[in-house]
Amino acid sequence: ARCHALIPCAGSGSRAGAGRPKQYQPIGGAPLVWHTLAAFAGVPRIAQTLIVTAPGDDALAARLLDRLPHDAFALADCGGASRAESVFNGLARLLQRGAAGSDWVLVHDAARCLITPALINRLIDACLNAASADEEGGLSGALLAMPLPDTLKTADAAGRAAATLPREGKWLAQTPQMFRIAPLHAALAARAASGFAGITDEASAMEAVGSRPLLVRGSAHNIKVTWPEDFALAAALLQTRHE
Ligand code: C5P
Repeated sequence: ARCHALIPCAGSGSRAGAGRPKQYQPIGGAPLVWHTLAAFAGVPRIAQTLIVTAPGDDALAARLLDRLPHDAFALADCGGASRAESVFNGLARLLQRGAAGSDWVLVHDAARCLITPALINRLIDACLNAASADEEGGLSGALLAMPLPDTLKTADAAGRAAATLPREGKWLAQTPQMFRIAPLHAALAARAASGFAGITDEASAMEAVGSRPLLVRGSAHNIKVTWPEDFALAAALLQTRHE
């Protein structure tokens, strides 16, 4: 089975407070998502990378391909109203483009621009090794994640801490998340009628149909640029690579 990558890149980035979608904001001399894509360009065993964009962002998106290997990257302007819908539409496009349902797909947030080829390879190796060791064939896939470092609170309606949850056994899900295309497409299809409610990553869709994906330790540097202050942090982390 081959490996493909799917990059949901169709968000509006409203929490980041920028004028244009955050994934196109310049950072370290290039649009934010360009750094994301450059990491995938550094993993030759990924057959093709499909970038799911919002229909209105065509002009911004087209320029991304200038500095990437043309045969390995493609755009699909089929972004949806939610991240899950963008991924669902992108999976259909991958199948239309000749990917097999039994092929693997690595879904990765455009906004996680600190991803590296080494982390991508760590996930692929862990997933393929665990899948081949799993004789019942029950392992559906894997995701990068980090053990929760902080104390976890629930808040009441007044914004006061109401309870503290034990952090043992709790992980923060990152991306990439790696599954076979057909089961992931089917798991998302089952949630389409409810508007993908509660589906904030691929693993949550798979868990909802009974899967238990493998957690593979990611990196604290693999942040998703979400808040205005994340841009400076991401720029500083990118900068340290050139020193
Ligand atoms: O908003 P958030 O940071 O959680 O988005 C995660 C990723 O999903 C981003 O890369 C964003 O561009 C993408 N996304 C999308 N379609 C949407 C919403 C978000 O592709 N409708």
